[in-house]
Amino acid sequence: MAASLVPPRQFADARLENYRPDPDHPSQAEAVEAVRTFAAGWGPRTGGLFRRGPKAPERPGLYLDGGFGVGKTHLLAALWHLAPGRKYFGTFIEYTALVGALGYADAVRLLSGASLIAIDEFELDDPGDTMLMSRLLGELVQGGTRIGATSNTPPNALGEGRFAAADFLREIQGLSDRFTTVRIGGLDYRRRDAAEAAVVAGESAVAALPDAAGTTVDDFGALIDHLATVHPARYVGLVDGLRTAGLRDVRPLPGQTEALRFVALVDRLYDAQVALVASGEPLDRVFGEDMLAGGYRKKYLRAISRLVAMTNAGARAS
Ligand SMILES: Nc1ncnc2c1ncn2[C@@H]1O[C@H](COP(=O)(O)OP(=O)(O)OP(=O)(O)O)[C@@H](O)[C@H]1O
Ligand SMILES: [Mg+2]
Repeated sequence: MAASLVPPRQFADARLENYRPDPDHPSQAEAVEAVRTFAAGWGPRTGGLFRRGPKAPERPGLYLDGGFGVGKTHLLAALWHLAPGRKYFGTFIEYTALVGALGYADAVRLLSGASLIAIDEFELDDPGDTMLMSRLLGELVQGGTRIGATSNTPPNALGEGRFAAADFLREIQGLSDRFTTVRIGGLDYRRRDAAEAAVVAGESAVAALPDAAGTTVDDFGALIDHLATVHPARYVGLVDGLRTAGLRDVRPLPGQTEALRFVALVDRLYDAQVALVASGEPLDRVFGEDMLAGGYRKKYLRAISRLVAMTNAGARAS
């Protein structure tokens, strides 16, 4: 289980050097500096009593806050790559699952002594989980472990620019003064270079997909029906080993329940860097206006951003 606590494949090469700060949003360059400074805390101690090397950061935690697609996960993975020795990277949900599976004491034992615990998408929705994680992190910090975390996408967050740092610091209570908070502004990077819209490859492109390992073709409606029969925690199994997914006859999603399940699948597909080849309606138009205006707006916008990126990857690959 601990072996899976590494950055997703997509972030295997994420480094500070290949993060391109947007000059229009100075907070991005500042974020790179903040990560660099934080990582300098692991650097070798240079100089003696009178000539000290780079000053270790005073706080053992770094919290990267920002809207979607500004590179929070990229920077957190870059930090993980800079950490020496034993270190872990996972989503908040993965860590709570770890505690669930091992029990609290064994989870502490497993994680303690690590140089870094990186927690992507710190969730604040469930007070019990938040308390559990705060307690766990408190113990690990006592032992010298440092923490990197990013904000998640709260379901009720309208607008892309909402910062969650105040909520985060309030909820983790006893730990709040241990975190340096970095706010990253800017636009969705996935939309900076890629085409603005999802690519519809068309029926012939879907039909031309090879019948090979790593490639699947599904009827969109049947896929959505199937998702209802699988717990979202198991969607990761659906994308295992997958490189290219064909989706035939994409249609607008009938309701919020189906839409949220599809969002969960999109996240797994995106983590696994699957290329999408689709026919029917453009995949960035499957969420209705009512959905986009509702409480889950930010989740849908993020899924759209990810779908745009994955269909563009599909167009490049085919
Ligand atoms: N400034 C940047 N320079 C280079 N690559 C970037 C930059 N910002 C983001 N990326 C890349 O864009 C993609 C999206 O970024 P990332 O997933 O880190 O954003 P995020 O803030 O975590 O978004 P989300 O809210 O979707 O979790 C990744 O592939 C990442 O490597
Ligand atoms: Mg992220």
